[in-house]
Order: sequence, then C-alpha cells, then structure tokens
Amino acid sequence: MNSPAFYDRQYLAHVAAVTDQWERALVGDQADAAVIPAGVAAMYFQDDQAPPFHPNPHFARFYPDDNCEQSVLLIRPGHQPKLYFHQPASYWYLPPTLPDWADAAFEVETHDDDEKLMKSLVGDIAGVGRVALVGPAESCDLNLPLDAVNPKGLVNRLQFARATKTDFELARMREASQVGVHGHVAARDTFRGGGSEFDIHMAYLAGSGQEESRLPYPNIIALNEHAGVLHYQHYDRTRPHPTHSFLIDAGGRSSGYHSDITRTYSANPGDAFDELVAALDAKQLEAVDAVKPGVPFVDLQVRMHQQIAEVLVEFDILRCSPESAYDRSITDQFFPHGLGHLLGLQTHDVGGHFATENGDLAEPPERFPKLRFTRAVAPGYVFTIEPGIYFIPSLLKELSDSDGGRDVNWPKVEALVPCGGVRIEDNVLVTADGVENLTRGAFAAVP
Ligand code: GLY
Ligand code: MN
Ligand code: MN
Repeated sequence: MNSPAFYDRQYLAHVAAVTDQWERALVGDQADAAVIPAGVAAMYFQDDQAPPFHPNPHFARFYPDDNCEQSVLLIRPGHQPKLYFHQPASYWYLPPTLPDWADAAFEVETHDDDEKLMKSLVGDIAGVGRVALVGPAESCDLNLPLDAVNPKGLVNRLQFARATKTDFELARMREASQVGVHGHVAARDTFRGGGSEFDIHMAYLAGSGQEESRLPYPNIIALNEHAGVLHYQHYDRTRPHPTHSFLIDAGGRSSGYHSDITRTYSANPGDAFDELVAALDAKQLEAVDAVKPGVPFVDLQVRMHQQIAEVLVEFDILRCSPESAYDRSITDQFFPHGLGHLLGLQTHDVGGHFATENGDLAEPPERFPKLRFTRAVAPGYVFTIEPGIYFIPSLLKELSDSDGGRDVNWPKVEALVPCGGVRIEDNVLVTADGVENLTRGAFAAVP
C-alpha cells in the first residue's frame, strides 16, 4: 500500500470523486460537515486482545489502508478533507506511518494521543453548523444529538453511490481477483494432490499470499457433504475416503477491496456430479452474458431458477416439466440463496436494495426474501453471479414432505447427497454496453 503507484492521479481522482459524492450527500441531508471515524477494535470480554481491526468502510473508501485505527476524517464542503492521523507513541505495537498518498490527498494533522486528536477535532467543528457522524460512534464521542449520528438520509445516499466504482476502485478489484485466483489455483492443485480441507486452506493462504486475518471473509473449503453447508466454517485435517467433491468459496483483498470466488470440482472427472458442475457452469456463463445496463437483477434471479429447473429435469433429478418445477418453487429447495450481491469494500456490499439515491427501497420479491441485490444494474457496478445446486438434507426433507416430493427421483438425489452441492461464483463489472468478467479474466491470465 505504500508503493509509489498509489501516489498517483488515479487515487487522487478517486478521492476527489468520493469527496464530491459526500459534499452532494451533505447538501441533500442539510448537513454542513461530516466526521468519519476509522473506528477502534473492541477487546474481547475481560481480555487485552481484540479481533482483527476492520476500518469503517466509509473511512476506508477515502483511506485504502487498514493501519488507521482511531484516525478520523473531517469532510466540509469547500475544504480539502482533513485527516486526523492517529500515530500512538507505543513500544508494544509498531505505530502506523503516514503514507505519501495520504499527504497528497488530505490536509493532515498527526497526533500521538487520542485525547489531543479529539480536542483538535472538536475545536475544528465548533461553529460549523450541523455536523453528522458517519461510523462507529463509540470510537468518537462528540456528544452529537442522536439524529446526527449515522443519519439515514445521508448514509443511504452514500451507500447508493458506492455501487458505482471509480477507476481506482476497479484497479483494486482487478488485483483482488488476481489474488483470489492465485489462491484458487493452489487450492485446486492441493485437492487434486489428495489434501485435506486444512491442507487446502493453508495452500490457499500461501498461494494467494494472504494472512488469515486479512481475508475478505473466512475461506469455505468443503469436501463431500460439507459442500452443502452454505457457509461451512471448519477445516478437517483428514481427507474423507472416498472423496467425491470439493467446493471452495474464497476471495482476495487489495487495499480493502474484495473478490468473492467459488469453484466446485468432482473428485472423479466424468461422473454425474462432474457433469452437473459443467451444466451449472454453462448456465452461470449464460447469466453473466445476460448482464447489461438496465437489466433488473431480480430478472436474472428468476431466469436462473428457470434454468436450474431445466438442469434438474435434464439430469433426471426431477420428473416434471421445468415450468412446473419453477412455478411450484421446487427449485428453491435446491438453490436456497440469492444469485448475487454487490461487491466492494465489503463482501456483501451495502446498497443492494436501494431503488433511488434518496433511499427508496426496492424490496426483494416475496419468493426470494434473501436476495441481497434488487437494483437494475448500471455501468460501473461490480457484483457476483453465483448460482448453486445443493443436496441439503433438511431442505430435501421439506421437499419430500410437500406435494413436489412426488416428482423427485429420490435414488438419484440420494446418490448426490454425499457430494454436497455445486456453486460457481464470478465477479462481474457492468460496462457501457455489456459486462466484463473479472474472475474469468484473472483465471485466464494464470499460466
Ligand atoms: N462468500 C460468501 C458469498 O458468496 O456470498
Ligand atoms: Mn458471494
Ligand atoms: Mn462467495
């Protein structure tokens, strides 16, 4: 992050664009200034240790480095953003150093003491009018009225705007894709070499060059039926015998920006599960191809359920028409999560349900309450396309107890339960007239 490459026009143009968004959002919410604390990691109960620090994403959008605990930004229309940089005089931990790019982007005041930092900030905001605080209020006690702390109108405008990435953000997200893909290649090879979930996890960390505490989200490394646990969280140290399948959902991070990538493999190339993986992969690519400006994401979700119905019928898993499987919601028991979500500084990035910048909501349809993204897509948005077909015992039980259970070829399903499920997840960028697949692009660049 301290590389000279960041001290460049692209980053400064990004800061200018984000500052402009804030100024417009402040005007829209009739506020005169915003205080954005980076935050502070809370200690575990009665302990002197804390989980890894995650900066307030509103702060991170200006300041793309994690070493910013207790620093604060002040945004005032017509002024350069001011950074109150917290650099504690500690010999227990290495204090952060101020990156060159921060000096170029902000008016900077450095403090080695948090009380002095707050005193200076309080002095600067005295008499400026209505001040909003956007971030974790407990880390920055300004005694503001309740309606000035994370005011909904202001936050909604900012979250809406975050869907559209600047060139600087797109460059970081391309890097995050490369980081993730390097890990995926190492993980796939370790799976093929006979490794356990734990071995594969460690290979991913080494291959992607990431420490565990800095991953965008905990790696999902699932062999066999674990692939049917959507957010499977363990790393078994023994390889199951026989091994049927491998699902990996793991991402990369670059300057705070995330990638979120899933691949699924059969242990037995050419078997029925392998064919199912290939069939879903083809449908996933069709969904990516259908992305273009103006397409409502809900339409892609509906279309994917219809396509999954076709796959289930084609594989003789369902013995009814695809239309009937879709209409009777049978597909929901095989594909129980949304087709995708916005991606950026957070893996499940904010703003997916806003219809307008004022915060009017585009609620998910009743049938798909878990869909995190309901907006019509627009150039500059980055989001995931991640269909899945799973064999999850609890959902299959619901299906067998329902009317639709009569149309299921149960022996076929039972043969696939030990494989857990398939998910294929890419990250895509909407362009002026179509789509760029960041994930496939990164895989294609690996020798
Ligand atoms: N890795 C979590 C997700 O795909 O949404
Ligand atoms: Mn995802
Ligand atoms: Mn994922």
